[in-house]
Amino acid sequence: MSVALPDAAAAEVRQAAAQAQPNIALIKYWGKRDIALNLPVVGSLSITLDSLWTRTSVRFDVALDQDEFRLNGRRDDAQLRRVAKCLDLLRARAGTQVRARVESHNNFPTGAGLASSASGFAALIVAGNAALDLDLSLAEQSILARRCSGSAARSIFGGFVEWTCGACEDGSDSFATPMLDASAWPLRVVVAITSKKEKAIGSTEGMNRTAETSPYQRAWVDGQEADLAIARAAVQARDFEKLADISEHSCLKMHALALAAQPGLLYWNAATMDCMHRVRALRASGLPVFFTIDAGPQVKAVCEPQAAAAVAAAMRDVPGVLDVVETGLGGAARLIEINELAAA
Ligand code: DP6
Repeated sequence: MSVALPDAAAAEVRQAAAQAQPNIALIKYWGKRDIALNLPVVGSLSITLDSLWTRTSVRFDVALDQDEFRLNGRRDDAQLRRVAKCLDLLRARAGTQVRARVESHNNFPTGAGLASSASGFAALIVAGNAALDLDLSLAEQSILARRCSGSAARSIFGGFVEWTCGACEDGSDSFATPMLDASAWPLRVVVAITSKKEKAIGSTEGMNRTAETSPYQRAWVDGQEADLAIARAAVQARDFEKLADISEHSCLKMHALALAAQPGLLYWNAATMDCMHRVRALRASGLPVFFTIDAGPQVKAVCEPQAAAAVAAAMRDVPGVLDVVETGLGGAARLIEINELAAA
């Protein structure tokens, strides 16, 4: 005979809100060794930003018969499946079935290569952990965020962050750890926005297509450990030149890999290319700056603080650059008050 046990969370409404910032990989994640658990084929290294953010509230409520998701004040059914999958991971940990309403606000364009999934899922995991009183460690929060979107594993932490590839089949050793605080090496990032459209091929689809069809996949995986070692040493030594060289190498290698997929993945537009040339010219003239680009057309120019104004002016001057956003490096994902959600 089975007895229906009362759902632990059913008695109440539970809610919390959190903020997380996007991160930008300097040594890129591209490719999965397990699609279901979202395990990467390579480790990666990133910087977390400060003035771009996602703020997310989650409200588990017995009165709801299904999950709901609103982004920037509008119902977003297209993203609901991914959000519901993330809620399922949290519910499984809490042993509850209660549905939730999730509200998110981004202060930057969504889906255009600015890592909105990284900040979005990191914020949702941190909020969900608090709302359901899960008391998860930071490593466990990073693992849950990883399962929702790989790069979200890194946005749990601030400053310079490494996400370890791991070797365990269950993914229990594939999570991010903080390497260096933002204040220990306060680099600046100038984002040149060259398109405000949603990207055509998202990272997940792009990297799966690459793994199946790109002839360079093996070389990509084989070279990553050496790149990570160089980048780690550069960060520890605050060696800008060394970090610049290895970061541009990782970025260009990832795009070469994706370009060679079938059909080829071409994430750049003409302005993207012009920005890359401009950044290289600035560096040749002595300014400490390098570029990196993710699965979209925006160019992130990473520089020493004293170069930021000149880099921003140069990016603004490139034809086709629609907007320039400048930011420093920021802290870890954190809980906020519900009423801070949409505050600028
Ligand atoms: C190019 O983390 O968006 O930005 O795990 O499939 O959600 P999923 O992919 P996602 O991919 C990010 C790819 C990248 C490089 C990086 O951030 O390391």
